[in-house]
Amino acid sequence: MDWNPLLAAARRARTHAYAPYSGYRVAAALLTGDGTVVTGVNVENGLLTLGVCAERQAVGSAIAAGHREFVALVVVTESSPPARPCGLCRQTLVEFVDDLPILCANEQGEQEETRLTELLPAAFRLADARPTPE
Ligand code: THU
Repeated sequence: MDWNPLLAAARRARTHAYAPYSGYRVAAALLTGDGTVVTGVNVENGLLTLGVCAERQAVGSAIAAGHREFVALVVVTESSPPARPCGLCRQTLVEFVDDLPILCANEQGEQEETRLTELLPAAFRLADARPTPE
């Protein structure tokens, strides 16, 4: 897996993160099935709970552009060790992929590779749920 194009795209996008309240800028870069790289950044709001994570922005942009197949994800922050996607973003990703290699990186050069199944084992899927009898 050549992470460099995804890393470069995420780092570029991160300069556009809108995080005036937390000061914590996050960028994500998703590689889709046809080789397209789709980025997302966190977008915060004065109504603090309205903020959206970079990973979910990337998924939303990819879906809006017609992509449903995801091959890899890079997340870039300044955290050390590199931060992992939050729980909401993990569940959002699992809607579209059974598993996904994920590179968590920071601007200082640290990188940690993980997988969606490692971050979210035994994920909830509505298709697996049994309807409750009335
Ligand atoms: N954030 C992300 O963009 N992705 C995550 O996986 C965790 C947190 C953002 C949300 C908020 O704008 C800021 O980081 C602080 O929580």
